[in-house]
Parts: sequence; C-alpha cells; structure tokens
Amino acid sequence: MNIAILGFGTIGSGVYEIIEHATTPETKALHVTHILIRKGKPKTLPYMCDDIETILNDPALDVVVETMGGLEPAHTYILQALQAGKHVVTANKVVVAAYVKEFHECASENDVNFYYEASTGGGIPWIQGLEKALRIDQVNRIHGIFNGTSNFILDHMQRYQATFDEVLKEAQHLGYAEADPSADIDGFDICNKLRISASIAYDYHVPDNFPVFGIRTITKEDVQYFKSLGMAVRLIAKTKRQGNTYSCVVEPILFKENQLEANTMDNYNLITLHGDTIGDLKFFGQGAGKLATANAVVQDILDILEGKAHRVLHFQKEMQYDTTLCNRDYI
Ligand code: NDP
Ligand code: HSE
Repeated sequence: MNIAILGFGTIGSGVYEIIEHATTPETKALHVTHILIRKGKPKTLPYMCDDIETILNDPALDVVVETMGGLEPAHTYILQALQAGKHVVTANKVVVAAYVKEFHECASENDVNFYYEASTGGGIPWIQGLEKALRIDQVNRIHGIFNGTSNFILDHMQRYQATFDEVLKEAQHLGYAEADPSADIDGFDICNKLRISASIAYDYHVPDNFPVFGIRTITKEDVQYFKSLGMAVRLIAKTKRQGNTYSCVVEPILFKENQLEANTMDNYNLITLHGDTIGDLKFFGQGAGKLATANAVVQDILDILEGKAHRVLHFQKEMQYDTTLCNRDYI
C-alpha cells in the first residue's frame, strides 16, 4: 500500500517513523512514497516534493494522509485526493469539523474511504468505539476531556504549582499544542472535536453555534484553592440529545478529587459515552502527542488495507438546538 503524507511536522513525521520502523507484518505492508513539504523547504528525504499535482497524479498511490492542519489548502487537497480515487486519512479536526458532510459524500461518490480517527482523542480509538456503540445503541450523551494541552496545563498547575505560561511552553515543546495554542486554551480545539463526535452520534452535521469557554484566565492560585477544597478543575466538552433536540457546550468544571476526571493527568483524555444498553462507556489514553496520534492515523490506514468499513453517515437530518438541555446532571 503506497502512502503520501501531506505536511511533515509532529504527526506527519510520527506516521513516517511508525511505517519506516515497521515491526509487525501489518505495518511492513505500508510504504511511504511521497511527502509534501512547503515550497522552498530543504528536501531531506528522497520522497519529499513540493507539488501536490505530482502526488495526486501518481497512479500507484493508494492513500493520502493529511497532517498539515487548518482549513486551506487541506480542504482542497482532501477533495482532490478523493476525486482522484485515493483513500484519505486525516488528523485535522479543523477541516473535519467544517467539512465532514462534504468529505463523506465525496468519498462515497468516488468509492473510496475517508477516515479521521486521529482528529478526536489523539491515540484513543474513540471514533471507532463510538461507531461500534452506535451499531446497537442510540448515543444521546457524550462528555469528557478532549484536549491534551489544556489537561496538561491544569494538571501541572495543580501537581507542580507551575504557572500557566510555564506549562503551556512545556506542552508546546512536547508537541501537544496546536500551531496556534489559543485553540487549545480557549476551547476551540475541543469545540471541533465535540462537533465531530456529536455529528457521528446524531448523524447530523453539528454547527459551531454553541457556548465555548476556555481556561485562559485560570491561574495556579485558583487551582491551588480548588485543591484545598478537595477539587480539581478540568476543561470539559459535553453534548446531550432528547428526540430531535440537542445541546453542546465546552466549559471548565470542578470535580471531586476521587472522580476519574480529577485523576486524568498529563496529556491524557477521558471520554464517556452513554448508550441505551451499554450504559456509561469510558475511553482513556493519550489525547495528544506524536507517536500516540500517529498510531491512530496508521490504524486507519490498516483498516483501509484490510477493507474494514467504517460507519456510513448521511447527515440528512434536521435538528433543533436548545442550550438548556446540557445541564450538569449526568457528570
Ligand atoms: P505541525 O505544525 O507540527 O505540522 C504541520 C506540518 O505541515 C508543518 O511541517 C507545516 O509546515 C506543514 N504544512 C502546513 N501547511 C502546508 C502546506 N500548504 N504544504 C506543505 N506543508 C504544509 O502540526 P502537528 O503535526 O502537531 O498537527 C498536524 C495536524 O494533526 C493538525 O491538524 C493537528 O490539529 C492534528 N493533531 C495534532 C496532534 C498533536 O498532538 N500534535 C494530535 C491530534 C491531531 P510549516 O512548519 O512550514 O508550517
Ligand atoms: N492540541 C491538541 C490537544 C492535539 O492538545 O489535544 C490533539 O488533538
């Protein structure tokens, strides 16, 4: 299986490393044949090029991995790749949240796959878990910690009494933060991940018109005060549906020190779904970081190689938004 990686930063290089250092029969079947870098950047590997047309016109190419981030040119390149009959795997939650409906339609029209496990929950097989739950249950409630950087900041301000700025710099150094980290600390990265999750759960393309609060104004003194009360603060995304009405919100919430959320440390995420028969089901793991996230990308490529179909979504439904639905009764 021949693979092109668009964007060779933290995650793109992680995908390359996993494939180049393949240790299993599955990963040994994968070959990186193209890496798209920006014009003018040094070509340090033989597969590097700066021309998307050359990549997409290669008849031997099977899968395009998009790890550039942002809306454009990611949106255009993904559509061009699908139209050229290439499967697409992306880690880019910004472009998936905005265009998930268009990408699914285009993939279906061209009889190829569009997969995006790494876009939400980093290395956690969250989308796969949600899709599996939906085979039996209606999932009417989802909540959790969906951002590694903000969790790392809140946890380290509590455990090590570090300042917000010190911990943010460390999260950037470790490759957890977005190119513009305000997306992490102001809640917009989580907003995109909640849109993707709720869109899959409700089979409705959820817009971004819901309340989003971040953690920018929380200080180490606040966090130490919460600790003295036996509490810890975490940035939480939640969504709830009742019939044809739904609600979404992103906000910091206080948890008692014995609750799982309060004990979710470093770059870890903890996501809970509630299904009719399964009840509460929790997903825990590294929500950000090079190899954990690259692992999720490679899992999607292997699903394509093995012909494992993901859930077919139509996004044809109409739904109403009611912010009052999303109260705190289920956390
Ligand atoms: P980086 O900024 O480290 O990497 C992005 C790379 O893409 C950079 O090398 C950038 O080059 C390159 N790039 C951007 N635009 C173009 C272009 N037009 N042509 C060629 N190359 C381009 O980001 P990450 O690897 O951290 O993130 C990539 C994606 O994965 C994002 O969508 C992010 O949200 C997502 N993600 C990241 C996670 C993480 O833990 N870091 C976890 C889960 C998802 P340059 O440096 O010159 O701008
Ligand atoms: N910046 C994101 C985070 C990367 O910290 O969670 C993973 O999506």
